[in-house]
Amino acid sequence: MRFLTVIKFGGSLASNIQVQGRNRFLKEAAELSRMQNVILVHGGGPEINALLEKFSMESRFVDGLRFTDADTLDVVEMVLSGKVNRVLTTELIKNGANAVGISGKDGKSVICKQLKKFGFVGEPIRIDKKLIDILMRHRFLPVIASIAADAEGNVMNVNADTLAASIAVTFKAKRLIFLTDVAGVLDRDKNIIKEIRMKEIKALIKDQTIVGGMIPKIKGCADSVEKGVEEVWIADGVCGIQDVKGTVIKI
Ligand SMILES: Nc1ncnc2c1ncn2[C@@H]1O[C@H](COP(=O)(O)OP(=O)(O)O)[C@@H](O)[C@H]1O
Ligand SMILES: [Mg+2]
Repeated sequence: MRFLTVIKFGGSLASNIQVQGRNRFLKEAAELSRMQNVILVHGGGPEINALLEKFSMESRFVDGLRFTDADTLDVVEMVLSGKVNRVLTTELIKNGANAVGISGKDGKSVICKQLKKFGFVGEPIRIDKKLIDILMRHRFLPVIASIAADAEGNVMNVNADTLAASIAVTFKAKRLIFLTDVAGVLDRDKNIIKEIRMKEIKALIKDQTIVGGMIPKIKGCADSVEKGVEEVWIADGVCGIQDVKGTVIKI
């Protein structure tokens, strides 16, 4: 089996064409995908917020997860599958990758359980590898929007970090890289923490060093490290993937 890297491409980078480092990432991801298997998972937080605002709809977060009512879900899917996924796929193709844009819904790849407290938000409970395996076997680069469905086919919004972690575990990735809009996990003095051990994570959340959008990320790291992914990073999107810089999470 070929070496597999799963990359979560952060919302701000995935959304903003102007963001520094975006072109570098696209070039490097395309290059990497010609040498090994790569699965790309993306969110699109800032673009979702912008469209919600245009519709005068509220963006609400609970424990770093977007509260998603039925109308919000429509907007989320429109932005993630209709726009961010399309644009990313096109740009990767322009950079020489054989990219194919899908969401977790396609091919019933990701089945999730609803987390009612957050509305139509799901947590992946089962991954059917078939479609993504077929794509990788034929050297396509799957670009996955963080939308999935429950066992009955009801659409759910899934946090892209959580999705990336469960995909990395299921496909036995060797590397999982969360590219985001900060230099890594920062301590209370805003210094980068170079290395975090599994046993330190709970305390970092409890004392609120880690809050908001970093919570699903660090939980995804813990889950994947525990389940055998060898190299797990929360890294600065600006630095790209050839020269990963940030926080490494170890067992
Ligand atoms: N300890 C921490 N170190 C770094 N960032 C943190 C920390 N705690 C919370 N954050 C927040 O998490 C954000 C990254 O998560 P998020 O906004 O969801 O971005 P992404 O699109 O990459 O998922 C950072 O921009 C920062 O505001
Ligand atoms: Mg996030």
